[in-house]
Amino acid sequence: MKIHEFEKGLKDRVAIVTGAAIGNGRAFCERLAEEGAKIVIADIADAADTVKAVHDIGGEAVALTVDCSDEESVQRMVSKVLELYGRIDILVHNVGMYDEEPFELISFSQWKKVLDINLNSMFLVTQAVLPAMKKEGFGRIIVMSSNTVWLGTPYLSHYATAKMGVIGFTRSLAAEIGRYGITINAISVGLTATQRPVNQNISTTGTILQHILPEQAVRRADEPEDIANVVAFLSLPASGIITGQTMNVDGGAARH
Ligand SMILES: NC(=O)c1ccc[n+]([C@@H]2O[C@H](COP(=O)([O-])OP(=O)(O)OC[C@H]3O[C@@H](n4cnc5c(N)ncnc54)[C@H](O)[C@@H]3O)[C@@H](O)[C@H]2O)c1
Repeated sequence: MKIHEFEKGLKDRVAIVTGAAIGNGRAFCERLAEEGAKIVIADIADAADTVKAVHDIGGEAVALTVDCSDEESVQRMVSKVLELYGRIDILVHNVGMYDEEPFELISFSQWKKVLDINLNSMFLVTQAVLPAMKKEGFGRIIVMSSNTVWLGTPYLSHYATAKMGVIGFTRSLAAEIGRYGITINAISVGLTATQRPVNQNISTTGTILQHILPEQAVRRADEPEDIANVVAFLSLPASGIITGQTMNVDGGAARH
């Protein structure tokens, strides 16, 4: 591995970014497109604005509608990507959601929904892309955890359970797929300035800001671009020796 391989960026690589109609996912698409990757935006919602954002910086992007918690929908999306491009190099599995809720008020259906969207979707999408990555002998998988797993933030027992599961998955799968040139790493995302809706009955973004920001070494919320830089780094061919890790990107709120 020569240092100059960093300069090759992601030209001609195909990257699927799930949950990229808005929020962090959109910044990931823009950042990976800047490195030269062709972007597939895989979201349940209309992602036309993200397609436009990538086009505006001279990149290539398509949007595919998918419910990442549904097996058939995921299979259809991956088949379509292979039909369009014939390869998948990068998967950034960014889909996620939470409802803040005191533990005793969480219904079982709400618990299962949070696990479906944050955890089971990761199983489905990762399993669906692996054959194509193995065929190429190359793959970069990046999945989203949360710094709430280190902080023990209240009212998120369902979400924190799912996001800790993301880390266990990352460690175990890394050991299985490294021999094929495929890496998997997690990012434990800190409080980020996205448009995520919060349950106003329990907490507000303001309350979370009050609790978390004073704990941070760097006293500002993450910007989506902060996370996107780490996503881009982990996607590079030159990052192939890094796998099974969790990068904590949260202004030092959790110093573990
Ligand atoms: N924003 C934060 O402060 C923060 C903090 C820690 C971790 N995270 C994690 O980062 C990731 C992105 O967060 P965000 O704030 O950008 O989220 P967001 O709510 O802004 O965007 C989530 C995207 O996922 C899509 N989506 C939801 N369910 C889907 C499904 N079943 N199939 C396909 N698409 C679906 C939505 O349409 C949306 O475009 C999530 O995994 C989240 O848990 C965010």
